[in-house]
Formats: sequence, C-alpha cells, structure tokens
Amino acid sequence: MANNSERLDAEQSRALVALYYADPLRRLPFVRDLFNRTAEHYDSVNRLFSLGSGAWYRRTCLRRAGLRPGHEVVDVAVGTGLLAREAVAITGDCQSVIGVDVSEAMLAAARRNLGIPLIQGAAEALPLASAVADFVTMGYALRHVADLEAAFREAIRVLRPGGTIVLLEMRAPRKRMSHMLAAAYIGGIMPLLSLLVTRDSRARTLMRYHWDTIVNSVPPEAVMRTMVDSGFLGVNCWSEFDLFCCYFGRKAPDQTQ
Ligand SMILES: C[S@@+](CC[C@H](N)C(=O)[O-])C[C@H]1O[C@@H](n2cnc3c(N)ncnc32)[C@H](O)[C@@H]1O
Repeated sequence: MANNSERLDAEQSRALVALYYADPLRRLPFVRDLFNRTAEHYDSVNRLFSLGSGAWYRRTCLRRAGLRPGHEVVDVAVGTGLLAREAVAITGDCQSVIGVDVSEAMLAAARRNLGIPLIQGAAEALPLASAVADFVTMGYALRHVADLEAAFREAIRVLRPGGTIVLLEMRAPRKRMSHMLAAAYIGGIMPLLSLLVTRDSRARTLMRYHWDTIVNSVPPEAVMRTMVDSGFLGVNCWSEFDLFCCYFGRKAPDQTQ
C-alpha cells in the first residue's frame, strides 16, 4: 500500500501535469526545471527502466529510418545523450551529431558522456541555420513540447531537401490489459524502484511525471496529422508492445525552405 509521501508525490505530479498542460507558456520553464533537478539520475533510472534494451531500441529505430555513416544529424532534446550516442555509433563521427536541449544540467551530463557539439535551445526555435542536417531526431521528448507545429516547422527548416525526421516516443496503451500493466509498472513500480536505487525523492518524482505525461500525451494519429500538415511526406509510425512509437517522415526532395 502506498505510504503518505508516495501518495503526496503522486498527487503533486498529477496536479503539476494538469497545471502545465493547461498553459503551454508554463510548460517549457517547468520541463527545464524538472530536468535540471533530476539530470544526475536520468541515466541510472533509464537503465533500470529499459532493462538494458534502451540503447538497442534507439539504434534499431535510427537504422530502420535509414541513418547511415556520413549522415549529419541534429538530435533535438538530446538530454544526457542516449539517442545521440547511438546516432554517433552509426554515423561513425562525433562531429556529425549536434545535440540541442533546454536543460543546462542535461547538457552538462551530455558533455561528460559524449564529445559532440551541444547547444542550448528549444525544439520550437532551433538555434541552427537552415538545411544543415540529413536527419532530425528526438527521443522521448515529444510529449514535453508545447507547440508541435512550431517544432515540426523548425525540423523541416534545418533538414536538407529529402532529409528524415525520426521521433521516439511512448503512448498510453489502448488495450485494457496493456494499459493496466503499464500503469502498474511505469506509474507504480518504477517510481518506487527509482527511489530505492537513488535514495532521492526527485528520481521518484521524475518517474511519476513520466507516466502522467504519457497518459496525457498527444495521440499518435494527431502527431502524424500534424507532421503531414507541417509538410512531411511518407509519415508513418512503427509501434511496439502497444506502448513504444517510432514516428518518421521525410522533407520533400524539392523543398528548399
Ligand atoms: C526524457 S529526456 C530524453 C533525452 C534523450 N533524448 C533520450 O533519448 O534519452 C527529455 C529531454 O527533453 C528536453 N526537452 C523538453 N522539452 C524540450 C523542448 N521544448 N526543446 C528542447 N528540449 C526539450 C528535456 O530537457 C530533457 O533533456
């Protein structure tokens, strides 16, 4: 049975999600502050959560979308560098992947983990020139972005003609049984395990927030519709376990802007 502090944590997380989802302007500073406060635990909690499969899954999605040696990548919401690391493993060159993130602490962790160029900035206003990348990638940050249209417009702008966008995300499972299992594991067991492993309540808050944002995230059909409306071609989503989504699309080969 949940103890008082756990119950309070869950209530706070739900209240915060409701608050910042209601007001898009508050979302960015809220998310930035949350990741600044929890950056030190991100990698260990992520390892625990993915049971070691996170790197494999990230790399598989990038390969499947066509990432190859020699490509240049902008990894938006780079975090501590978990997706960027797999991109570098494929392109074979640290300088071919640029990481962008709003959180100073996540960028500092990425700087320690990887020798790639890093820039502070938001998905909705990328601090980069136009047509600089063959791939724009984003791992598990779509649900934090307040303005998807602005983020997709920016992705199109920084992509070269014919370039590819790859977005990894999680969604609330549709099947009743999968939903119940995911709620129990991601929303219940994971926050508790995170607390036990890190002995820091902020890690538990991060994981609580993780599930609450998954439940409140934009449905895959709406994400894909917004990608199409933003100008992406061949938009599709590979789905695994009724939980993981890998969206991809291409900028038209003759689109110069
Ligand atoms: C769950 S972490 C994902 C990190 C990494 N991509 C991965 O695959 O593990 C989400 C990251 O998104 C960043 N973020 C959230 N909203 C953002 C935005 N609007 N623009 C840029 N970064 C953002 C956060 O600071 C955080 O580092």
